[in-house]
Amino acid sequence: MSDLTLSPTWHALKEERKAWKALHLRTLFARDRKRAERFSLQLDDLLLDYSKNLIRPQTLKLLVKLAREAGVESLRDAMFGGEKINLTEGRAVLHTALRNRSDRPVLVDGADVMPGVREVLGRMGAFVGKVRTGKWKGFAPRGQGAKAITDVVNIGIGGSDLGPAMACLALRPYGGNIRAHFVSNVDPSHLVDTLEDLNPATTLFIVASKTFTTQETLLNAQAARTWLLDWAGDAKAVARHFVAVSTNEAAVGEFGIDPANMFGFWDWVGGRYSLWSAIGLPIALYVGMDAFEELLAGAFDMDEHFRAAPLEANMPVLLALLGLWYNNFWDADSYAVLPYEQRLARFPAYLQQLDMESNGKGVTRDGRPVKVSTGPIVFGEPGTNGQHAFYQLIHQGTKLIPCDFIAAAESHNDLNGQHAVLLSNFLAQPEALMRGKTAAEVETELAMAGLGKREIKALLPHKVFPGNRPTNTLLYRRLTPRTLGRLIALYEHKVFVQSALWNVNAYDQWGVELGKQLAKAILPELTGAATARPGAHDASTAALIATLSAALRSS
Ligand code: F6P
Repeated sequence: MSDLTLSPTWHALKEERKAWKALHLRTLFARDRKRAERFSLQLDDLLLDYSKNLIRPQTLKLLVKLAREAGVESLRDAMFGGEKINLTEGRAVLHTALRNRSDRPVLVDGADVMPGVREVLGRMGAFVGKVRTGKWKGFAPRGQGAKAITDVVNIGIGGSDLGPAMACLALRPYGGNIRAHFVSNVDPSHLVDTLEDLNPATTLFIVASKTFTTQETLLNAQAARTWLLDWAGDAKAVARHFVAVSTNEAAVGEFGIDPANMFGFWDWVGGRYSLWSAIGLPIALYVGMDAFEELLAGAFDMDEHFRAAPLEANMPVLLALLGLWYNNFWDADSYAVLPYEQRLARFPAYLQQLDMESNGKGVTRDGRPVKVSTGPIVFGEPGTNGQHAFYQLIHQGTKLIPCDFIAAAESHNDLNGQHAVLLSNFLAQPEALMRGKTAAEVETELAMAGLGKREIKALLPHKVFPGNRPTNTLLYRRLTPRTLGRLIALYEHKVFVQSALWNVNAYDQWGVELGKQLAKAILPELTGAATARPGAHDASTAALIATLSAALRSS
């Protein structure tokens, strides 16, 4: 792909940015009564209102043109078509095959992957059925009866944790008789605190790791096995209380989990795109297989929309282009995801991995340094909590932080009209960010409140809101498995489109390797099993190792 920044469209967007020095959204809304309608898009009950963005029709035209020039459509078709677009790992990128609800085959190296996908889904369904109905029993120590499973503990990290943990919290109203827990951190407190209230007789562990080499996961899994065996006193218990989800059958066997209790997936599923695979097993155990399939169906809805809708009416494409507009033409380094839905509390953390591990890249797909800023910093918290924490900076700070506001029209539990209060805040914040408050408005307000001239003069600059701060509003009827599937797939494809625009590989993550390598060398030095060779570390790291190794020895 040729350098996009050299294209006349890129240049025209720079000019368009200059024009915005004299534009304010408040005026544009006043001038164009149809602005909200013009800049909204609906997919079934999912509404994207992007009218409070710093765009006008010509901005959007240029952005869409840029997407065409970047070859977004052909890269999208290559991805869905099973081409090995993950160049550095020589892999296809086919999380979309995992939720392919059509009978279209999906070919990798000429072979259809769909029979394998369906086979694993079938095995998951059978297992989930047995566990949820109590037919799958735990181990029975001598003299005790076998008990049904009540608690599932997923041991995994990154993509083998964040998606399922986020989804289980989001889908709590669909949860049944099985409780789901997630242990990811190698900090022993995570496992210890989780196991504290659990009964080994009724606990099932899922060891989830694509590679089955991840240090944190293997250590936690070993500790969990010890906990189980301390109770059972018999290694046979492992087969009743441990299952694995992985692509690495040999390592699963070596760990001591019967391959009959393993659910596989494939190298063409990236870790952070894997919740649709058997990595979603804790979700299926928690909400049941039908609801899990609804989640897949929601993602499939978005896949079909993404494949077929013209770029100018394509939700993931629009979100991606708006993100690029701020990132590359407004120097916005970050964006905030603000779900007005407490059960989406882990959604920002999930998106952090999805977006930052995918597009946090400094070289192009062919290994040359990128010329423009790439993946943004993602952060967020549920509203209204965030309002009482970091919104100050978004309203009046010196940085431009585009925000995505997300909410459901209906709550699963309305309590004394609290949902309406939540929604009033959900609506007020984007309005405030867009409109701002002028000096004249502040002055009138303060005068009406009885303040004198001197007081008004002193307070006025603090009370002005510049406005013109961009937001997207995403609204759906209710947070169902199908809606959640759509929402996740929307962001997955947004991230993909941005990677195509920046010409970076969204599907590798070499940046996580160096720290892991160094930690491997430091561990024996910390525990005293080895001494560092002179000059192996900088003075700061060497002194810290000495301090901590002394602390470890004396504790
Ligand atoms: O360290 C990063 C990473 O490789 C992520 O990309 C991945 O989701 C996570 O670790 C866990 O990997 P695995 O599923 O192989 O244990």
